[in-house]
Amino acid sequence: MDNQSCVKIINEWDIVSARQLGRNVAKELGFGTVDQARITTAISELARNIFLYAGQGQICIEKLYENGKTGLRLLSIDSGPGIKDLRQVMEDGYSTSGGLGAGLPGVKRLMDDFQIDSSPGEGTDIRAIKWLR
Ligand SMILES: Nc1ncnc2c1ncn2[C@@H]1O[C@H](COP(=O)(O)OP(=O)(O)O)[C@@H](O)[C@H]1O
Ligand SMILES: [Mg+2]
Repeated sequence: MDNQSCVKIINEWDIVSARQLGRNVAKELGFGTVDQARITTAISELARNIFLYAGQGQICIEKLYENGKTGLRLLSIDSGPGIKDLRQVMEDGYSTSGGLGAGLPGVKRLMDDFQIDSSPGEGTDIRAIKWLR
């Protein structure tokens, strides 16, 4: 698909590539520097989680045009072990790594829309949208 591009996350350096891709698409869509930073921070958190907990996966960035609105969708997809207790990980203070973005609840706050789908043994699928305003 033309309006979606993906980066495979296999090693730590791929996290940097995913951030760069996200920043470029965000710029292209017209997001300001503050939103670009929010988006790249969210990407770092998701890509790092893939690297740390799933071993490998993908980060995809999609341009959205819906009802006259423009947005950027982040997809984080892996076939890793999945997350057992989704409600628990979405509680503030659960995140242990102390990263800048404060884990998954941080990603939810940084973006406008956040969806997580994960089942043990099947992997994790996270979708988040930032709308341009
Ligand atoms: N892609 C993933 N696959 C499997 N488990 C994950 C994934 N992302 C997050 N997790 C689990 O959810 C927990 C919370 O993630 P997060 O909020 O980023 O905090 P942290 O990475 O600091 O622990 C992680 O500790 C890990 O157990
Ligand atoms: Mg994390």
